[in-house]
Order: sequence, then C-alpha cells, then structure tokens
Amino acid sequence: MESQVESLLKLAKNRGKKRSPNLISVVSGKGGVGKTAITTSLAYSLANHFNKKVLLLDCDVGLGNVHVVLGLSLGKNLKLVFKGLPIREVVQRVYNFDVVLGFSGIERLDELEEVNPSSFLIQLESITQEYDYILLDNSAGLNRYTLGFSKASSSTYVITTPEPTSLTDAYAFIKSLYKLYGYKDFKVIVNMASSKREGIEVFERLNYSVSRFLGFKLKLVGVLPYTKNLKESLAKKVPLPELYPFDPFSREIKKVAQLEVGEVYTGEEKRGSFIKSLIKLFFEGR
Ligand SMILES: Nc1ncnc2c1ncn2[C@@H]1O[C@H](COP(=O)(O)OP(=O)(O)O)[C@@H](O)[C@H]1O
Ligand SMILES: [Mg+2]
Repeated sequence: MESQVESLLKLAKNRGKKRSPNLISVVSGKGGVGKTAITTSLAYSLANHFNKKVLLLDCDVGLGNVHVVLGLSLGKNLKLVFKGLPIREVVQRVYNFDVVLGFSGIERLDELEEVNPSSFLIQLESITQEYDYILLDNSAGLNRYTLGFSKASSSTYVITTPEPTSLTDAYAFIKSLYKLYGYKDFKVIVNMASSKREGIEVFERLNYSVSRFLGFKLKLVGVLPYTKNLKESLAKKVPLPELYPFDPFSREIKKVAQLEVGEVYTGEEKRGSFIKSLIKLFFEGR
C-alpha cells in the first residue's frame, strides 16, 4: 500500500518536473575566432563525454559552415525552418548529437529581412524539452540575429582571441546586449592562447572593462590553445575531440563541458563544484 502511495507521489513529482534545457548562444565580436570549432567540439563533448542530449544549430545566417566541419551535405537546413517548416523535420544526427544545419548564401538581398528571429525562437520552444543543451553557433558581430538569439539564451559564450581587436569587439558585443536588454549572463572563452597565463590576462582585461564601465563581472570558462590539429580535423571533416581526444584543445573543451554540466546539474553544491572545477581548470596540468 505504502509503495503505491510512494510511486503515485513520484509520478506526480516527475510530471511537474519539466526538463529545462539550456539555450547557449555562442558569439564573438570579430569573425574567425573559433566559434564554429568550439561549438561543434563542445556539442561533441557534452554528448559523448557527459551523455547529454544536445542540439546544435548553425545560426550563422547566410554563412553557415557547420556542415563543412561535420562533413554533411546542405540538404535540410535552417532556411526551411525560417520559411515555416517544423524544426523537427530538418534535424540530423551525427556523433551522438542532433544538428540543424545553416545555409550559405542568400538568393535575394531582402530575403534576410523576411526572417524573424523571434518566430524562429518560438519554433525552437517546441523542441526544447527534448534536449539538455541547445547550442547556437552564431555569426560574428552585432546584428539582430546575434542579439536576438543571445537575449533569449540562458547563457552567452563570448569567444575572443588575445588579439586586441577581437577583445574590443567582444566588449562592444557585451556592452550592447547589456545596454539593450540588461543581459549579464556571459561566459568567456579565450581561444588560440599561447598559454593559460596569457588567456587569463586577456580575460582579466575584458573583465576589468566590463566591471568598471558596465558594473558587472564576467565568468571565464575556458582557455583554449592554438592547435595545428584543427586543420587536419577540418580536412577530414571529423570533430577534433573525436579525431584527437588528447589534443590540448580537446582536453580543454572537455573541461568547459564539465563546468557547464557541473554548474547546471549539481543544485546546492553548484558554487562549490564550480569553484573546484575552476581550480582544476587553471591549476592542474593539461
Ligand atoms: N584553437 C585553434 N587552433 C588552431 N586553429 C583554430 C583554433 N580555433 C579556430 N581555429 C581555426 O580558425 C579558423 C576559424 O575558426 P572558426 O571556428 O570557423 O571561427 P568562427 O566560427 O568564429 O568564424 C578555422 O580554420 C579553425 O579551424
Ligand atoms: Mg563560424
């Protein structure tokens, strides 16, 4: 009898517990800083190392290239979703995660004007329950897509390199999203760093400007090294963590995924585990 009550309670509890997926928008001020390399590797790691249900969306409107990195052909893509096709119908599966490809080129210049980021986000709502993480690989810079998608995200990963122009553009992006929407949920990845120290210094410069002029703090979630192996991974069309799991880039991506998973899923312990992971990230050897 008691067990019947217990199982009923359990059932009721589980009914109310809708999975809350994490919409992560990956952006940068400047192009070519590694958004696509990072987003595809992160999707791979969350799915394969942490067993998460992941959807990767190529939101680089008009210049999408996730298909190139993953070796897929561009048949079913986001343009069809923008035109009203249910998102479910264009989802493809690779390396244990789902992907919606973007598109390259637009036929008419005004075609982009017809696309409304919010109607797309409403469509996205319909499948969010099915995923633990939805990663959006955006175009570079400030436009209504990158701003719109980031505004709707639970966190925005800002990718920068140590290059000063990349850093100032990252600041401009953060400032705009904050000034427009009061948005502060930024996580920073410094890519192509020559050392962890350099990565941390770059982050500190950005964080200093943000705290001083905008009044809030950023989180550093990863410092990724330059690796020659990314070129080979592109040529072979296999994500780097699959091709070279022990490449320093792959290892660091796994730590980013670990932070993301730990931070989201450990409830009360989340601060502790987040700090522990940070200590691991920066003070334990690669
Ligand atoms: N850490 C890295 N080490 C070496 N090459 C990298 C690294 N990150 C990115 N790249 C390379 O730089 C180029 C641009 O990266 P990509 O991910 O396409 O940038 P974005 O999406 O920001 O435009 C690609 O050829 C990619 O393989
Ligand atoms: Mg890209």
